[in-house]
Amino acid sequence: MKEPLVAPSILSTDFAHLGSTLATVNESKADWLHVDVMDGVFVPNISFGTPILKAIQQHSKKPVELHLMMVQPERYLETFARFNIHQMTVHAEACTHLHSVVQQIKRLGCKAGVALNPHTPLGCLEYVIQDLDMVCLMSVNPGFGGQEFIPQTLGKISLLKALIRRKGAAALIEVDGGINQANVTDVISAGADAVVAGSSVFDSGDPSQAILTLKNGAL
Ligand code: DX5
Ligand code: ZN
Repeated sequence: MKEPLVAPSILSTDFAHLGSTLATVNESKADWLHVDVMDGVFVPNISFGTPILKAIQQHSKKPVELHLMMVQPERYLETFARFNIHQMTVHAEACTHLHSVVQQIKRLGCKAGVALNPHTPLGCLEYVIQDLDMVCLMSVNPGFGGQEFIPQTLGKISLLKALIRRKGAAALIEVDGGINQANVTDVISAGADAVVAGSSVFDSGDPSQAILTLKNGAL
C-alpha cells in the first residue's frame, strides 16, 4: 500500500501559539497544511478569516489548502488567493454554479478542490471531475474537529475512485474528519490518496510523530 499524503488541520490548536504550531508542522513530514475557514452559515461554527491567513502565510513553509466551509465562496476567492494559497477547496453544496467557481479558482493560479458532505451523492461530480485537482470527502459533518469517523465513507471512497478512473480524471481523493491511526489503513485501502487529521495529530503530544505514524500506519 502506498504512503498516504497527510495534511494536518490546525482548527483545534491553540491560536495563542500559532507560530510554534506552524513551526512544528514546518519541520514535520506533513505534505501540506489544511486550513478550515468557516462562516457560521454553511456550518454552525465560525473559525477565522484573513488575519489568521496572513499569519499563516508569514509562518508556514508548507503548501496551504483552504477548506472553505462557507456559502458563496466566490465572493472571497480573490482575497484569499493573495495569501499564497496552493489550493482552494469549496463545497459542492455551497456553489450553485460549481463549474464556474472551479474555473475561477484556477484562473487565480490555485489548484481546485471540491468537498462533499457525508450525505452528498457523488453524482454531482460527474461533469466537473475532469477539472478538479482534488475531491475532499467529508467523513464527519463539517464544522468541528474531534468528531467520530462516519464508516459509510469507506464505500464512498471506492465509488469515487471508480468514477475518477472511468472519467480518466486525475483528481486526488482526500478524506477529512475523524482520521486516526486506527482507521487510516482502511481509508487508504479504500482508495484515498490523502488524509486530513486535526485532533489525532495535535492532541497527541507529539504532532510530528503522529504524522509519521499516520503515514507508516497505512504502509
Ligand atoms: C471539520 C474540518 C476538519 C477538522 C478535522 O469540519 O473540516 O478539517 O479540522 O479535525 P479532526 O481530525 O479532529 O476530525
Ligand atoms: Zn477540513
